[in-house]
Amino acid sequence: MSNNTRENFGSKMGAVLAAAGSAVGLGNIWRFPIETGQNGGAAFIIIYVACVLLLGIPIMMSEFFIGRHTHTNTAGAYRKLAPGTPWRWVGRLGVLSGFIILSYYSVVAGWTAEYTVLALSNSFDGKTTADFPAIFAQFVSNPWKSVAWMLGFMVVTHIIVVRGVKSGIEKFSKLMMPALFVILVILAICSVTLPGASQGLEFLLKPDFSKITGATVLNAMGQAFFSLSLGLGCLCTYASYFGNDTNIGKTALNVSLIDTFVAIMSGFIIFPAVFNAGYTLSSSDIGPSLLFITMPNVFGQAFGDIPALAYGVSVLFYFLLVLAALTSTISMHEVVTAYVSEEFDMNRHKAATIVTATCSAVGIICALSFGPFEGVKIFGMSIFDLFDYVASNIFLPLGGMLIAIFTGWYLDKKIVRDEISNNGALRVPYLRIVFFILRYVAPVAIAIILLGQLGLF
Ligand code: TRP
Repeated sequence: MSNNTRENFGSKMGAVLAAAGSAVGLGNIWRFPIETGQNGGAAFIIIYVACVLLLGIPIMMSEFFIGRHTHTNTAGAYRKLAPGTPWRWVGRLGVLSGFIILSYYSVVAGWTAEYTVLALSNSFDGKTTADFPAIFAQFVSNPWKSVAWMLGFMVVTHIIVVRGVKSGIEKFSKLMMPALFVILVILAICSVTLPGASQGLEFLLKPDFSKITGATVLNAMGQAFFSLSLGLGCLCTYASYFGNDTNIGKTALNVSLIDTFVAIMSGFIIFPAVFNAGYTLSSSDIGPSLLFITMPNVFGQAFGDIPALAYGVSVLFYFLLVLAALTSTISMHEVVTAYVSEEFDMNRHKAATIVTATCSAVGIICALSFGPFEGVKIFGMSIFDLFDYVASNIFLPLGGMLIAIFTGWYLDKKIVRDEISNNGALRVPYLRIVFFILRYVAPVAIAIILLGQLGLF
């Protein structure tokens, strides 16, 4: 558990890109457009951005200063800051959530890899609207393919994590994130210049406030948490590798801006193309099947006049998803690996191997819940859905709420002030607002989300 051998990120830019890599993921390119589609477009986006600014950034700052102050894994961090108290369970809950989310997230990440290969081999060409649901159903129910892709994704994640913080996570984030931005901008330009794109743009840019209900606000908060990687100590673990001169407020702002930019750009890619291809938003086309049933068809139809363009856009789109998913799986793996390695005094390689093996075993069960285990239902949900529900609807908000209470009420104010201002070196005029949010606004708002998710509100 000695900290003197611990690595740090080599540069501030590397730290921002790694944290942004964690935040930018399937949540941005898949979940965000679905939520936007189902919750009224621009009006949802405005509420979402408000949630990011008001709740997301202060809680992200909390994760950052807990990690940076203690320079240890998330469970160790609470043990150090609140020795002998039950607060250590907040860290452990985070590690458990990271483990669960990594297991099922890798399954969907594996699908994006399969679809990249399908796009590369031009398999979507000549298919009609009726073919895509069958292609997807056949793929996910084929136990071995789905399992093999999940394992492949886990192994690549493992290889990067084992290489360490600087030459693994940081180096790959510095390669993957700029590639992701370039692809994102190319795809958005292609989509926005389609004939009929204006309908999609209007949907994204012209708010209709009559669509906003209590549920919209709850969904926006939940989405902000998932998308910013908050509540399970992912960013706390990354911050434990920040240098002492990293500006925590500025880093949280940058990571949140990058994450929100990617989400909104994904909307600019998806909606103009979806409208161009004649889909309606009221249909289930915008539901969870969006990425694997609607989009391959949409690209073929929207860009069908120029087959090479349809091909290029499909390949780039699925590759974008692979990159986004990979930088996120790395961050979840790191939470658990840092915990196992530091709390059980094990070298990083061995710890990562244990994490990869156990997560893969659980991932196999999740992957098979679309095939042979389809009939297994717990509380009426498949294993995959149950994990998603428990981890992202219950554990994440619970973790976020406890983090806000911990930093707002329990932690010595001096520690918070010193961390945010780098021991007085930075001016932090926003400190009082951050405190106010962490003490009052965030716990109440998140308690409402949590009750809403549980159907009690
Ligand atoms: N934020 C990522 C996404 O948008 C997923 C993710 C990575 C995550 N680490 C997390 C979600 C920690 C919640 C907590 O896809």
